[in-house]
Amino acid sequence: MRSFTFLSSLPIRLSLTILLGLSLLAMAPAHAAAAQKPKPQKSSAQESTSQKLTENGPSAAAHRVGNDTCATCHTDESKAIDGNAHARLALEHGGKGDTCESCHGAGSEHVDSGGDATKIFSFAKATTAQSDAVCLSCHASAHPNFNRTSHGEAGVACTSCHSAHHSKTSEAMLKAPQPQLCYSCHTDVKPAFEQAFHHKVNEGVMSCSDCHDPHGSFQKNNLRAAADQNQICMKCHSDTAGPFVYEHPTIKTEGCTSCHTPHGSQNARLLTQNNVNNLCMQCHTASSLFTTPGTPSFHNQANQFQACTVCHTQIHGSNSSNVFFK
Ligand code: HEC
Ligand code: HEC
Ligand code: HEC
Ligand code: HEC
Ligand code: HEC
Ligand code: HEC
Ligand code: HEC
Ligand code: HEC
Ligand code: HEC
Ligand code: HEC
Repeated sequence: MRSFTFLSSLPIRLSLTILLGLSLLAMAPAHAAAAQKPKPQKSSAQESTSQKLTENGPSAAAHRVGNDTCATCHTDESKAIDGNAHARLALEHGGKGDTCESCHGAGSEHVDSGGDATKIFSFAKATTAQSDAVCLSCHASAHPNFNRTSHGEAGVACTSCHSAHHSKTSEAMLKAPQPQLCYSCHTDVKPAFEQAFHHKVNEGVMSCSDCHDPHGSFQKNNLRAAADQNQICMKCHSDTAGPFVYEHPTIKTEGCTSCHTPHGSQNARLLTQNNVNNLCMQCHTASSLFTTPGTPSFHNQANQFQACTVCHTQIHGSNSSNVFFK
């Protein structure tokens, strides 16, 4: 029996969601509470954005007209916002908050001109940097380093993955559900998840974002870390994490991927080699340049000694055997 802690932590995530939901409901009648709640900050970032955007958006002289005015001409877009998380913006300022204009800029000129498209901010016409700046004007605290992550640096915009009006998912207003969203660009990763042994991402048991943070992280490959800042694998496979009285030190120094492929493999247990013998002998050969001990001489490589883990069963570490027998 293996214990996967992510399953047992699910109820916590659920109850958090419920708590959030409740606090939203509570905010509707009592906006005093809303004022105390830490809100995503607009201010300087957003102001400087609207100044930059005169060729694509309102001039500095434009003023806000309110959501209801926009809705008279843009029924579909308004309905789409009503159904998603950004509807919360309307609850701010005593129920007078802006949804439309907090993303598209002040609308008076656009409305007065009967819908001149050059007088309102359009995400479709904006550069990636302009478009991201609008989103980050409120979400910077959640994703402060996005511009320095591999997605940010490659010019993948917030709106490459999220859609404000046309989301087809219940999760985070994504353009497409995972993993299809990720495969749409990372086609090279897809075959691994079709191998005989693989993490069940396509089956919906887990997501790419269980291991990767698409908004970047401090680890290589945008990997998330476990709660104790250890490798992400240990979040679910806590039984491999130790600490053990007798550690297999390579796990801490070189990581799980020195023996396992994270996505998928033709080899059982997602091993990097198709027989365990070869895997172990990468390090445990007498001729090794490293301090790693070779196998004892009685390990004569006859059949009996090929299947190393038949005897060295506790390969991730043991509390009772310095050679990982039990
Ligand atoms: C009087 C009707 C009317 C009102 C009110 C109105 N719009 Fe428009 N809007 C239009 C028309 C017409 C277009 C289409 C222009 C085109 O396709 O060339 C448009 C286009 C847009 C676009 C797309 C621009 C582009 O180039 O892709 C956005 C975004 C937009 N409106 C936002 C708003 C917002 C926000 C409000 C409220 C502040 C608003 N509109 C109010 C008529 C209106
Ligand atoms: C969270 C930011 C955000 C808010 C709030 C928002 N929009 Fe948009 N809007 C976008 C983005 C991003 C696009 C580009 C298409 C997409 O991503 O769905 C867009 C596209 C549009 C378009 C172009 C046509 C289309 O559907 O692609 C119109 C018109 C529009 N929005 C109107 C509105 C109106 C009216 C409101 C208020 C009810 C509103 N928007 C609120 C971000 C926003
Ligand atoms: C004016 C501030 C503001 C702007 C601009 C803004 N957002 Fe948001 N966003 C919010 C608020 C408020 C929420 C509500 C969720 C919360 O934090 O409780 C939210 C929620 C979200 C969520 C979570 C949805 C969910 O179902 O969990 C996503 C994703 C998101 N925004 C993406 C974007 C993107 C992409 C843009 C740019 C196109 C953008 N936001 C622009 C304020 C903003
Ligand atoms: C490569 C795809 C991708 C890009 C680019 C991306 N996101 Fe996300 N975003 C996701 C996915 C997938 C989730 C849901 C899983 C998760 O929470 O990581 C998510 C979740 C969110 C959430 C809700 C949960 C949270 O982390 O707060 C917000 C808000 C959000 N994104 C905003 C943004 C903003 C703002 C940008 C641009 C700076 C952006 N995202 C860029 C894929 C992306
Ligand atoms: C719009 C295209 C696009 C989408 C959608 C997308 N990515 Fe990316 N991703 C890129 C680009 C471009 C890069 C940077 C170049 C590269 O390393 O391939 C990148 C980089 C990465 C990296 C880092 C690779 C490295 O070498 O550091 C990871 C991990 C990653 N993406 C995971 C994801 C996940 C998970 C999703 C889905 C939530 C996703 N991506 C969705 C385009 C995309
Ligand atoms: C079980 C955790 C896990 C899951 C689930 C996962 N990854 Fe990864 N991924 C990793 C690790 C670990 C690496 C680093 C590999 C290495 O160091 O050799 C990686 C590397 C990558 C890279 C960069 C290197 C490469 O192989 O091209 C991309 C891109 C990537 N993953 C995308 C994805 C996408 C897309 C999904 C979902 C379809 C996904 N990953 C699901 C753990 C995971
Ligand atoms: C979000 C939870 C989660 C994370 C994170 C995770 N795994 Fe898994 N892993 C699973 C589940 C669930 C299974 C069970 C097999 C299945 O149904 O996919 C599994 C199966 C495995 C197996 C095969 C076990 C067998 O009996 O064949 C190996 C090996 C493995 N994971 C290694 C890793 C490594 C290495 C990492 C980090 C790169 C990792 N896992 C990250 C959930 C996770
Ligand atoms: C020195 C190589 C090596 C390293 C490093 C390693 N493993 Fe393993 N792992 C194995 C071998 C060999 C097996 C197969 C054992 C067997 O045949 O019974 C295995 C089996 C597994 C299994 C299947 C169930 C089990 O416990 O037997 C999981 C899950 C797993 N490893 C996860 C991890 C995780 C997570 C890490 C990083 C913390 C990791 N492994 C690091 C060699 C390694
Ligand atoms: C990436 C390199 C690497 C791989 C692969 C590897 N090991 Fe190790 N192993 C080490 C290191 C380093 C030590 C610690 C040696 C020391 O204590 O100085 C060690 C220690 C051991 C020990 C304890 C020896 C002692 O005297 O403390 C045993 C038994 C062992 N490994 C068996 C295996 C088996 C069986 C496999 C294959 C499933 C394997 N190892 C794969 C690097 C590796
Ligand atoms: C039939 C059971 C068996 C198999 C199979 C087996 N070993 Fe061992 N291994 C042992 C015994 C017994 C010892 C000595 C334990 C002691 O000294 O207490 C040992 C010791 C070791 C040590 C410790 C050496 C030292 O100097 O500390 C390493 C490393 C090792 N084995 C690696 C391997 C590798 C790699 C394989 C697969 C190629 C393997 N073993 C297969 C039984 C086995």
